[in-house]
Amino acid sequence: MIGNQIIILLIFLIFTFVNSMEIRKTMLPVLRPVGGDEEVNAIRESIESGWWGKGPKVAEFEKKFAEMVGAKYAVAVNSATSGQDLVLKALGIKDCDIINPTISFMTTAVVPLWNNCTSNIVDVDPVTMCLDPEDVKKNLKPNTKAIIAVNQAGVPAPIDEIRKFYDGLIIEDCAHSCYTPGAGTKGDVAVWSFQAVKTMPCGDGGMITTNDKELYDKLVPMTWLGITSTYSRVKKDDGLTGKPGYSWDYEVDMLGYKCYMIDLQATICLEQMKKLDKNLEWRRHIQKRYNEELKNVIQIPPHSETVQYYCAKVDPDVRDDLIDYLADKKIHTSVHFKPLHLYDVVKDMNQREYPVADVEWKKLISLPCHPGMSDEDIDYVIHWVLEYFSENIFFEEPDIEVTPWWKFW
Ligand SMILES: Cc1ncc(COP(=O)(O)O)c(C=O)c1O
Repeated sequence: MIGNQIIILLIFLIFTFVNSMEIRKTMLPVLRPVGGDEEVNAIRESIESGWWGKGPKVAEFEKKFAEMVGAKYAVAVNSATSGQDLVLKALGIKDCDIINPTISFMTTAVVPLWNNCTSNIVDVDPVTMCLDPEDVKKNLKPNTKAIIAVNQAGVPAPIDEIRKFYDGLIIEDCAHSCYTPGAGTKGDVAVWSFQAVKTMPCGDGGMITTNDKELYDKLVPMTWLGITSTYSRVKKDDGLTGKPGYSWDYEVDMLGYKCYMIDLQATICLEQMKKLDKNLEWRRHIQKRYNEELKNVIQIPPHSETVQYYCAKVDPDVRDDLIDYLADKKIHTSVHFKPLHLYDVVKDMNQREYPVADVEWKKLISLPCHPGMSDEDIDYVIHWVLEYFSENIFFEEPDIEVTPWWKFW
């Protein structure tokens, strides 16, 4: 009898040992840029070339990026936030109403305010978490002059649906869409981000893409105080007299800003661009593993080609506890995003119901997803998420009295 109990105890101890996993020494980040010798060598070359500001690398990047996303024109800027602001200014969109989704980053709520517009925040679809066309329709105002449609976590926003009842300006927010095939082609203009944790990062940077030549011709000088000079130090031809001119002798006939991208940023983006396919493949590998191995304990997100964020959903009663539990295991998580209508800066102008976002955001938890993760890191996250649910899930207490193991002795 005692022998049997010892065997059971041994099996239990072996099972516990095999099933336990040592806790990491360092935090596993939820997002992280990854660069290497290629970026370092390219930056060294750019530094040694003497072009640190806006120069040939920016021009090369604009050309390659436009080709990649199938746009006629691309204008590189210092962030997607500046890009969205510049588009509104270039098109004279001000003193009006602008619709944007509540599940998004602060940019889309605040840029309208910079242009003296109301930031008209709408509810989202419960699955894609992109703006809900029905709520857009309900909240259109006579003075709505633009909609910022965010491809949330790389999942396409329903722009075709919105087009059926709205023919004004649509800015496609592609901050998370670099690169989903077809992204940036549905809106009138698209704005991309290369901020530090995006899929093609350079620290900070953005791109505006458009097929509208008139808009492009305005945007370029507006990135540099309205100055029309190109990056060449001495112009080959001033275009008027047919004689060489000087780059300092320029005209300024519009109000511009200072938000162009510089060569040091473009240099990193160009190197990251070469690695994009490989990095996206790895992000989708992480997505697939989480989907397959965690599907019984989390609600898996809709498929994303970029997996900018892996936005799972869990029971809202355990979400914050799970975040703390994973932090104890040195796994950093995040939430993309807390709804924008809850922030004081836009709360007053959005006093209405958000039945979907108010419920769904409390379930959101972003698990680590970036090209710096190894398969062992993915195993590690999966292990502790499963472990959390095996420890905490919510088995019904058995209705029988169980004899504690020590009473067998
Ligand atoms: C949806 C969305 N739009 C815009 C931005 C702003 O990008 P940037 O940091 O390049 O200004 C972000 C940044 O995370 C974002 O998530």
